[in-house]
Amino acid sequence: MKKTTVTICTGTTCYIMGASHLQRLDEVLDPALLEQVEIVGSRCLGYCDANGHGKAPFVKVDDQLIADATLDKVLAQIRKTLAKGAL
Ligand code: FES
Repeated sequence: MKKTTVTICTGTTCYIMGASHLQRLDEVLDPALLEQVEIVGSRCLGYCDANGHGKAPFVKVDDQLIADATLDKVLAQIRKTLAKGAL
């Protein structure tokens, strides 16, 4: 089964804007969901320099971009993505 990829930007802007607390995602994610998710860090994804993407920190859940990312927002998107894949 293909895992959902969660890419957490660890670039400077995102880090300063709060991405560091997102590194705890694996600790707060339900173990049943954790098996279906791969969490990776990434250098600057390029969204912080471009207009129209919203505010850092940025996280991607597969192709879905989350701006102003919080653990709650990322968890909600992971659940939504996994639910869509289960259909
Ligand atoms: S530092 Fe995160 S998108 Fe640039």
